[in-house]
Amino acid sequence: MAEVRSYRLRVAEVIPETVDSCSLVFEDAPFSYRPGQFLTLRIPSDRCGSVARCYSLSSSPHVDDRLQVTVKRTVDGYGSNWICDSLSAGDEVESLVPAGIFTPASLDDDLLLFAAGSGITPVISIVKSALARGSGHVVLVYANRDEQSVIFAGALRELVSRYPDRLTVVHWLESVQGLPTAAALAGLAAPFTGHQVFVCGPAPFMTGVREGLTSLGVPRQRVHLERFKSLGANPFEQAEPAPVETDAGAATVSVSLDGETHELDWPSSQKLLDRLLEAGIDAPFSCREGACSACACRLVAGEVKMLHNDVLDDEDLDEGIILACQSIPVTDRVEISYE
Ligand SMILES: Cc1cc2nc3c(=O)[nH]c(=O)nc-3n(C[C@H](O)[C@H](O)[C@H](O)COP(=O)(O)OP(=O)(O)OC[C@H]3O[C@@H](n4cnc5c(N)ncnc54)[C@H](O)[C@@H]3O)c2cc1C
Ligand code: FES
Repeated sequence: MAEVRSYRLRVAEVIPETVDSCSLVFEDAPFSYRPGQFLTLRIPSDRCGSVARCYSLSSSPHVDDRLQVTVKRTVDGYGSNWICDSLSAGDEVESLVPAGIFTPASLDDDLLLFAAGSGITPVISIVKSALARGSGHVVLVYANRDEQSVIFAGALRELVSRYPDRLTVVHWLESVQGLPTAAALAGLAAPFTGHQVFVCGPAPFMTGVREGLTSLGVPRQRVHLERFKSLGANPFEQAEPAPVETDAGAATVSVSLDGETHELDWPSSQKLLDRLLEAGIDAPFSCREGACSACACRLVAGEVKMLHNDVLDDEDLDEGIILACQSIPVTDRVEISYE
């Protein structure tokens, strides 16, 4: 088995949020994180040992002392129901380090946030952080089935009364207004097209928001998306990657991570993450499928080819962000930096 850098987090409290969601508050945070990032939790299974599921942090690193994730039950879903039914104070859960790039470049930016259902989880972390540490205007459009299913309704009310000039929350209730159409979402976004946009929710909602923003001419580079999906692979029980023949065309790669620089040869058919783990380098990862961005790093020099990318958008790519789990070398020399 490959070495996995994981932590045991002790549950301090389980807070029921709505009839089908709960928050897990953990005792001590053994690592730092950025607003909008997620944890990958290991969930025991009689069937296969364990499964891994990602949950965004709903706490803010700038406001909250303790880590918190918020989990909404998926109908017939294994992991989410296990968490809501089985965990209580004192239990421990294994977690990978926080990861992900659904996080504002600057908390001072004006932000237009679209969330639906459990998509509020990373978004509330961004809201709390931007209000506490930033200076911009924050607009949240938040869609839910009905009033009872609004997670963090009370916390949002308190934030609006504390920051009346900086925070605007627009609730959309399907029970009252029907499903939000792209045109309706465009209407809500229209006064704020200069803001940085963050979107998280079920796929049809995200498609509607993207269509609405496109109709307003909002450049794709300003729109950041977080897609929730269950991991197919299990990073906690990842088998050692198949050995790769060192080919004559091997590149060299220089990798800066945690204040150290490593120089390695990099066979042209091997993915960067596999090469780093093989060399004993503690590089972050979660899905290993190009779907979560936990392995995102910056290409400083040279060129790579990404075999699969479900998560980086055009702005990320323009900035030189790549997925280590999907990258193979194109040029003879490549330089990579983890930030
Ligand atoms: C970056 C990211 C952030 C996310 N953040 C959040 C968040 O903040 N809040 C949130 O609620 N969700 C979040 N999600 C979604 C979350 O990771 C899960 O996809 C979601 O909770 C559904 O998982 P589930 O196991 O309940 O359901 P499913 O994925 O539908 O579970 C069914 C799967 O589990 C298998 N299964 C069923 N029973 C067992 C068993 N006994 N043993 C082993 N396998 C079994 C089935 O074969 C099937 O494949 C996020 C996802 C990502 C990628
Ligand atoms: S580990 Fe998830 S995208 Fe690479």
